[in-house]
Amino acid sequence: MAIVVTPLSTAPGSNAKFGATITGVDLNFLTEEDFQMIRNAIYVHKVVVVKGQHDLLPAKQFEFVHRLDPAAERVHGFDTEDVTDETSGVLGPRFNIIPGSTGVTLVGQGYQGDDHYGLKGITAKSTTHFDAHAEPLSLADVANGATRFGAFHFDGVIYGSYPSRVTTLRCVRAPKGPDLTVRWDDGSGHTMTVKPGLTAFIDSAQMYSMLTEEEKNIADHSRWEPAPQPYVWTGTRKIRNSGLGMAPGGETVPLEKLPAWTPEKVYQFPMVWVNPVTGVRSFQVLPDVVRTFYLKKGPDDEEEVVEDGERIRTFLNQIIDRIIKPENILVPTYEEGDIVMFNNWEVMHSSIDFPSSYGSRSMHQCHIPSSTFPAGPVSVS
Ligand SMILES: [Fe+2]
Repeated sequence: MAIVVTPLSTAPGSNAKFGATITGVDLNFLTEEDFQMIRNAIYVHKVVVVKGQHDLLPAKQFEFVHRLDPAAERVHGFDTEDVTDETSGVLGPRFNIIPGSTGVTLVGQGYQGDDHYGLKGITAKSTTHFDAHAEPLSLADVANGATRFGAFHFDGVIYGSYPSRVTTLRCVRAPKGPDLTVRWDDGSGHTMTVKPGLTAFIDSAQMYSMLTEEEKNIADHSRWEPAPQPYVWTGTRKIRNSGLGMAPGGETVPLEKLPAWTPEKVYQFPMVWVNPVTGVRSFQVLPDVVRTFYLKKGPDDEEEVVEDGERIRTFLNQIIDRIIKPENILVPTYEEGDIVMFNNWEVMHSSIDFPSSYGSRSMHQCHIPSSTFPAGPVSVS
């Protein structure tokens, strides 16, 4: 059995030129050579679908993710001391770690059976666009096959830990039913047809490439800072109906009313993150949680501190609007037994809601807080 990496063929009219399929490997018995090929493929192709991993043991899935970052702590990305019922906020309900896996969680929707890999009688409930969007769909629209991208994001707590490097997501059970129509509902009229239960991706390197030279200069030299306890801080604000960027209105939670926090755990991230293998630059900012910009036009420019939430919101939205279009979004097909792996420092991803009548969705998900800070293109300290 020889491992083969095949880039996804680009659909007609699509600008989403990333992603690959990997065949000919069993992740339960991974040689060093095959591991290096998969690692390289994740960093070159950003998103890979490894086919045919029906029998993958959760503990082996965790070991694979940890092997990508051997100096990292052996915990799931959301299983840190800083994530509690009080602080998880919009992340939603606490996750279910699969017994014996160290840090693989069961995520999805619906009843997961009497005994799912040792988890007994779990009903999974992930956050949906109904929780997150400014103007959710009506139940009648949903009944007619309409859906939304829930919320594009990268994985990680980011308060008190560094964003996870690679996320792996194994499809154990996919919902079954007719294709769905993702609606933007932002005045653009954009729609996209998808199979139920899949994950959508945006390439943040493509977003960087869409910046003007002047904007690239700013992005290369600037930093963003999330709020402390960011998933609570975001408050009553909502995400735009397209799934990326904040809608107007709503209120953040005042800092003094947040669950206890310490300034040392609030990091300042570069606006641009550099792929450690390819050197490719990505514009990587999480709109929901950013509270402060430290803007600089160049190495010798004076830094401007921006805490005006409306200015931050509109700055980000006018950049996001260039990429959040059907031709730039990748929704790779994966089937039961396949495992999706992605460079969480270079893409954003979103789940796509589906009707409960399609049955339950079971995914084994694992990412680990990075042992290192994401590297920027220039020293931004
Ligand atoms: Fe995620």
